[in-house]
Amino acid sequence: MNRKIRIGIAGAGQMGIAHAQAFAAHGADIVGIADSHAERAKNLAQTFGAAAFGSVAQLLEMGLDGLSICLPHSLHFDAAMKAAENRVALLIEKPHCVTLDESRALRAACTRHGVVAMAGFTHRFLATSRRLKAAISSGRFGRIDLAVDRLIAGSLTAATPTWYRQRTLAGGGIAMIGMIHSIDRLRWLLDSEITSVTALTRQSDSTADVENTALALLEFANGTQASLIAHRSPVAGHERAHHYEIFGEHLNASCAIGSFAHQQLRFVGSADAGCETVTDDQPFLTEIQEFTSALVSGKSVSPDLMDAEIALGVVLAIYESAKTRQPISTREFIGDLSIKK
Ligand SMILES: NC(=O)c1ccc[n+]([C@@H]2O[C@H](COP(=O)([O-])OP(=O)(O)OC[C@H]3O[C@@H](n4cnc5c(N)ncnc54)[C@H](O)[C@@H]3O)[C@@H](O)[C@H]2O)c1
Repeated sequence: MNRKIRIGIAGAGQMGIAHAQAFAAHGADIVGIADSHAERAKNLAQTFGAAAFGSVAQLLEMGLDGLSICLPHSLHFDAAMKAAENRVALLIEKPHCVTLDESRALRAACTRHGVVAMAGFTHRFLATSRRLKAAISSGRFGRIDLAVDRLIAGSLTAATPTWYRQRTLAGGGIAMIGMIHSIDRLRWLLDSEITSVTALTRQSDSTADVENTALALLEFANGTQASLIAHRSPVAGHERAHHYEIFGEHLNASCAIGSFAHQQLRFVGSADAGCETVTDDQPFLTEIQEFTSALVSGKSVSPDLMDAEIALGVVLAIYESAKTRQPISTREFIGDLSIKK
């Protein structure tokens, strides 16, 4: 492709703005913005000299190479299907869909129309995640016995999008919007599939109808066991903090992500001890570079819709386990899965 790629953004909220900035930094032409909130669409469109629309269908009429979907979760599927039918490449924020049926239908449509589709698992593109992935892939950890992941999400405030509190639009609470990143990152880091899920959830924030606590125990095909905690306290003012640890046979790692702009990765082990602080990371730039280069070259993209379906399936298995108080086999629950190991 010799010309600039033509990108549309669906959703001019916090992620739509971040995606638009990253696409522009890579030299893409942001041609149109769709948001049902007319003022938001107009403001973001003005910044990039783009056209503003009230709906994704109108935006698609412009003729796009790629569409970035940054909408409330339950609206992703319809927007993505419309784009796939128009043979427009997709970058879809997580969770890409809210049910497995939607996910399967979208995957089938993308295959049918030859559409490149990438899921927005930004945590794979954090500098600390990539350093850790390289260390694990080089074999420095040996066997990995345990992973522990703890996400304390920021308070819901007046500035938080109201749909974060609503099951019909969000599809779920902290597991669906936050823990899903940890699930995808662990699968990717360990290069192994999750085979079983045992979970508890709790909804104690009276201003929301979604869970604000999720606890999950995961077993991986390679034998690793993991404990994941995600919580959003209803107390105003508590700050976001994300911390995870990997315990191996020869090496341990501990990673703290206060914000994307402040990450710390520490290795503990006789030969490989060390600590690194990252303050200049721009994971959205790296993520969108992956998407734009796949779009231009036609090569496969990662994370793809199968990665997205598995992470969504594990979140839904967490909800099922919490409801039934039983462990859930992901092979039985998610079904049509190519379990890797
Ligand atoms: N990758 C990350 O690190 C990260 C971080 C935060 C959020 N997210 C994801 O980004 C996505 C968007 O979240 P957000 O925080 O930007 O939300 P947001 O509320 O800030 O933005 C969503 C926008 O969609 C618009 N909208 C709602 N209904 C619409 C419709 N029918 N048609 C067109 N526009 C409509 C809203 O007016 C709003 O401007 C979600 O999937 C969320 O999980 C990802």
